[in-house]
Amino acid sequence: MSQILDGRQISKALKQSIADEIRDWTVKPGLAVVRVGNDPASELYVNSKEKACAEVGFYSRKIVLPEDSTQSTLLAVIDELNQDAKIHGILVQLPVPQQIDEQTVLNAIDSRKDVDGFHPMNSGALLNHRRGMPEGILSPCTPRGCLKLIEHTGIPIKGKHAVIIGRSNLVGKPVALLLLYADATVTICHRETKNLKEVCLQADILVAAAGKAHMVTADMVKPGAIVLDVGVSKVDGKTVGDVDFDNVKNVASWITPMPGGTGPMTIACLLENTLIAMKNQN
Ligand code: GUN
Repeated sequence: MSQILDGRQISKALKQSIADEIRDWTVKPGLAVVRVGNDPASELYVNSKEKACAEVGFYSRKIVLPEDSTQSTLLAVIDELNQDAKIHGILVQLPVPQQIDEQTVLNAIDSRKDVDGFHPMNSGALLNHRRGMPEGILSPCTPRGCLKLIEHTGIPIKGKHAVIIGRSNLVGKPVALLLLYADATVTICHRETKNLKEVCLQADILVAAAGKAHMVTADMVKPGAIVLDVGVSKVDGKTVGDVDFDNVKNVASWITPMPGGTGPMTIACLLENTLIAMKNQN
């Protein structure tokens, strides 16, 4: 039976340390979150980010644009936020509607305010890093949250085989880099991977980030593995992850629940990035 990696609980300590650090500051770290359109999941995520800002005492702005907004409207909003001295971090919730080019938008955010770590300056800095946690670099929040969860287990990452399912720029690729910098041996699987089950069975650390409901079944998990679930899907109106939690929990040593696992850690790391961004700007 696994121990549960309770992201809600574990993220509390990080949020508390951020709140303590800024308590007496006259200028608070400021985060702007921009959402375009009416995607219900994005609405939920953006509201959680705003709520977390209030919890730790950050200044925040939420900007919601209609679904049919043009790219130039969004770029004008980003330009204004780039100039706003009260804003140290800018996040445009993804995905954006199809008439807007995602990379053009990410490139337009001042790289010093890019708290998602998706700007080429920051993703390039992460790629060029060599070993250890890349302190001071704005790196993607979900991967950083994953590393913090693994650290929480107390099991050393060095020399372990980490298998990642999914190769996205948001999660798969950056989490692979962070695990590599922590001295894991890393395998990235994707939809064309042959023998996925056999590869997963070799994993000491398994990160599921494919966005395919319950695709990781108990027969794919090595006894004693650490299993992190990053996938989010809706099945019959219910939020489910990539991991068949009820069965995998009998095999893994540690496992994240869904919801309440990697999600809260992402938000805590976003706050941490906003603080780093402010420090870098001053
Ligand atoms: N959509 C899903 N995850 C993320 C994230 O980490 N950042 C942004 N901006 N959008 C997302």
